[in-house]
Amino acid sequence: MYDRFNRRISYLRISVTDRCNFRCVYCMPAEGVPLKSHAEILTFSEMAEVVRVGAAMGLKKIRLTGGEPLVRKDLPVLVKMIAEVDGIEEIALTTNGVFLPKLAKPLKEAGLNRVNISLDTLNPEKFRKITRGGNVVDVLKGIDAATDAGLLPVKINFVRIPGENGEDEKAVREFCEQKNLQLRFIRQMNLKTGEFDAVEGGYGGICEICNRLRLTADGYIVPCLHSGLRFNIREHGIEEAFRKAVEFKPEKGTGTESHEFSNIGG
Ligand code: 5AD
Ligand code: SF4
Repeated sequence: MYDRFNRRISYLRISVTDRCNFRCVYCMPAEGVPLKSHAEILTFSEMAEVVRVGAAMGLKKIRLTGGEPLVRKDLPVLVKMIAEVDGIEEIALTTNGVFLPKLAKPLKEAGLNRVNISLDTLNPEKFRKITRGGNVVDVLKGIDAATDAGLLPVKINFVRIPGENGEDEKAVREFCEQKNLQLRFIRQMNLKTGEFDAVEGGYGGICEICNRLRLTADGYIVPCLHSGLRFNIREHGIEEAFRKAVEFKPEKGTGTESHEFSNIGG
């Protein structure tokens, strides 16, 4: 799939759930977000079908996101379904890490290649504040579990929150060097104003080379995080939803009122 700006679309990020065990300050309001009803959320068969149709059109890489993807029951089953699709070369996962001690191994066995784990500070009190209740020790256990399971390279997402975790950068940097983790810095984004930056050490946020589409947990293909465009797969059919998303993928992102990070996974 090529878009109007000759970008080759090969990467799909799938939000498998809008639920999360954390309430990070940059992602959700304290009280959480209104959750989608069960009927709206795609089944694993629907998600796998989206991947099959997308792979036939040129998708090669899949990333599972949330919400927190590991709160979706039996996620390794979905990973296996995706791993069996011809043309899919890589499956990655973005997670807060808490459930990795239980799931890292089954995910690896199902065909998951690697993980990105969010870690914005090593300080337990600050971590609790940023995630509104999370325990950093759980995440550290998750990081070790991912490494032990061979979900390599393990990447760490550090969201720079102005006035909050600037002093924590150094400790996280040293921790990552020690543990052989690849660290990436992400500036806190605001979807409403469309303020965003390139991800330091990654490819996100660079419109000129953007090769990605998103699938929301409730079945919309979204061509750009920073535009309001979205095409429902149940309404248009999967292939047509892909075609429309590619056809209308904007040259660069501006701003949108219509998405929440909790439904689109960053
Ligand atoms: N700004 C930047 N990144 C965000 N994420 C979630 N909300 C935001 C935001 N407002 C990303 C982070 C986090 C992942 C789950 O989603 O990278 O680690
Ligand atoms: Fe959950 Fe990730 Fe959002 Fe934090 S950023 S509330 S861990 S989905």
